Amino acid sequence: MFKRVMFKRIEHTEEAISGAENVAEYGERHKRDTDQKYRPLIKTIKAQSISGRYLEVGAGLGTLAVTISKEIDDVADVEITAIDLSPDMAKAGREYIKESGLKEKVRYFVCDASDESEIDKLGKFDLVYSAFSLHHWRDPERIFKNLVNCIDENGILYLYDLKRVWWLYLLPINGGYINSIRAAYLPSEVGAFLKKCGITKYETRTHFPYFMQSIIAKK
Ligand SMILES: C[S@@+](CC[C@H](N)C(=O)[O-])C[C@H]1O[C@@H](n2cnc3c(N)ncnc32)[C@H](O)[C@@H]1O
Repeated sequence: MFKRVMFKRIEHTEEAISGAENVAEYGERHKRDTDQKYRPLIKTIKAQSISGRYLEVGAGLGTLAVTISKEIDDVADVEITAIDLSPDMAKAGREYIKESGLKEKVRYFVCDASDESEIDKLGKFDLVYSAFSLHHWRDPERIFKNLVNCIDENGILYLYDLKRVWWLYLLPINGGYINSIRAAYLPSEVGAFLKKCGITKYETRTHFPYFMQSIIAKK
């Protein structure tokens, strides 16, 4: 009982990461561990070698979209649409994409993934992916529904995020990353969101250091 109460999900205090200062601070933290943090995700996406249209949800500074665009280039022909709720993140992301010379391959829009009509306008995608954003979503059920709807026949939904683990509740620390892990979902909770959208074919994996997970789902 004690463990169950402690282990409850604690909603993230912010949905969008807004304000130039917060975005810059996120960028500083992000630079330190980018490559290692994304490696399993990039490996999986590359292994699928899907050509066509990709949607990245909660794209932040655009670094992942740029990395995927470059790394996938030798196995698939891909156009990426990146979206984020935060205009400040989108501004930084667009600048990074431009500096990287990828304006033709990666587009970036301010868009709330929980807004059906905005997502609808973007069209259909062969791959919808998202990294470290799910635990921020205020209305995950709605976003899952929107993302499943914008996947093409045979398309894939790939989510990469933190995973809530009970042992982190034992540590007498709060703030930043720890709060994000407490706001993250269990694989079973993600499975329940998918089932509500009629998705039964999915696989979840835990990644080192055991508070990271990925979910790959097919329509
Ligand atoms: C922790 S950041 C991750 C950013 C980036 N994917 C990364 O790996 O660094 C989470 C991002 O999700 C975005 N976000 C949160 N809710 C969103 C929503 N409903 N629609 C689109 N983006 C959202 C936030 O603005 C933020 O930029």
